[in-house]
Parts: sequence; C-alpha cells; structure tokens
Amino acid sequence: MQNSASQDRYSKPAVFFHWVVFLLVALAYLAIEIRGPKGSHSRIFWTAVHLWAGSLVLTFAVFRLVWRLWRGAPNEIEVSAVLTFLARLVHVALYLFIFVQPLLGILMLNTGGHPLKLAGLNVEITLVGTDAVARHAIKNAHVWIGNAFYFVIGLHALGALTHHFVFRDRTLQRML
Ligand code: HEM
Ligand code: HEM
Repeated sequence: MQNSASQDRYSKPAVFFHWVVFLLVALAYLAIEIRGPKGSHSRIFWTAVHLWAGSLVLTFAVFRLVWRLWRGAPNEIEVSAVLTFLARLVHVALYLFIFVQPLLGILMLNTGGHPLKLAGLNVEITLVGTDAVARHAIKNAHVWIGNAFYFVIGLHALGALTHHFVFRDRTLQRML
C-alpha cells in the first residue's frame, strides 16, 4: 500500500477525521458556553450534549491517531523552518488535547463521585473512585486547558488561512 507521505494531500479518512473532530470540539465548546444557570432544563440538556460531544472526540481521536500512524501524512509545504517547527508543535499539542481534555472530563466526573452517563445510552463509565482533592485539581486543569485551547485552535486556524490567502499554497486545500 502506498504511504500517503508520498502523496500531495491528506487521505479521505484523514480529512474526514480532522473535520469531524473539529465539529465535535466546536459543539463541546458551544454547549458549555450556552448551558445556562444551574438547575435549569437548558443546563441539563447542554451538559448532556457536552458529555456526548467530548466522548465522541475521544473515540474519533483513537481512530484518527491509529490512521495517522498507519498511513502517515503528506510532506509539509515549507514556507520557513521556524513556521514549520511552530506548526508541528501546534499539531502535537492538538493531538494531545483531543485525548487529554476528554479524559480529564471523565476523571472530573468520577472523582466527584459520578460515573460518566451518556444520555440515551445505558452505560456508566467509572475509571477512578471519588477523591475531592484530585477533583479540584482536575477541574482546574479541564477549565484551564479548555480556555487555553481557544487560542491554540485559533492560532492553528489562522496558520491555515494565512497559507491559503497570503502564501497562496495548497496547505488548506490538501485538508479539504
Ligand atoms: C474536547 C472535548 C472537551 C472540551 C473542549 C471541553 C471543554 C470544557 C470547557 C471549556 C468547560 C468550561 C469550564 C468552565 O469555564 O466552567 C468544560 C466544563 C465541563 N466539562 Fe468539558 N470539555 C471536553 C470534554 C469533556 C468530557 C468528555 C467530559 C465528561 C465526560 C467533560 C465534562 C465537563 C464537565 C462536567 C464540565 C462542567 C464543570 C463544572 O462547571 O462543574 N468535558 N469543558
Ligand atoms: C478543534 C479544532 C482542530 C483540531 C483539534 C485540529 C487538529 C489538527 C491536527 C492534529 C493536524 C495535523 C494532522 C496530521 O498531520 O496528522 C491538523 C492539520 C491541519 N488542520 Fe487542523 N485542527 C482543528 C481545526 C482546524 C481549522 C479550523 C482549520 C482551518 C481553518 C484547520 C486546518 C488544518 C490544515 C490545513 C491542516 C494541514 C496542515 C499541514 O498540512 O501542515 N484545522 N489539524
């Protein structure tokens, strides 16, 4: 089988995984931003959406990483060595984010004494037991990473758009 590093664009599954994960991350953020006050129906509904979207991010992250390790990626279009280095750093951070952030979410619920329950599914996921001290630290980490990645994702998107509109190369088209 031909390795996609020798091709000039991302494979169809890689493109599919990239944009599905993007939409799910956006939905997780949207749900948490508009969830409304404690005790409201809106909060219950949007929290359920947040948990579903976040859990699906983790599921697709696994498929995506396996595919990436198996098929590789096309060679980068290099504008400068510094920008290539920065882009790689951001890509590694984004891969870490789509695993770590959902896992912290699950650990936050579990250490608070709740299993992860996904609305409409009859499963309860418990990875660890209750621990008030750990919950406090994990919640802070989930909130902090959540806020920090608005900027990292923004930087990544800005990089893609700069390639397209300023450098006028195929970086963005290869991911469409
Ligand atoms: C990529 C996926 C995810 C992103 C981007 C994300 C992001 C966020 C953000 C920004 C907040 C708001 C924190 C605040 O300012 O109050 C939050 C809260 C929360 N997240 Fe996530 N999250 C993700 C996945 C998950 C998952 C998978 C779970 C659980 C299984 C989860 C559980 C929670 C809970 C319970 C809260 C509410 C914390 C509270 O207010 O007590 N998250 N998340
Ligand atoms: C939650 C949001 C996002 C995440 C987690 C994410 C993650 C990633 C990762 C991990 C890669 C590296 C792929 C690999 O080499 O295997 C990548 C590549 C790419 N992403 Fe994103 N991305 C997000 C949003 C966006 C947005 C909004 C855009 C466009 C505006 C975008 C455009 C691209 C492009 C063009 C590439 C290919 C870069 C290259 O060939 O060097 N991404 N993304």
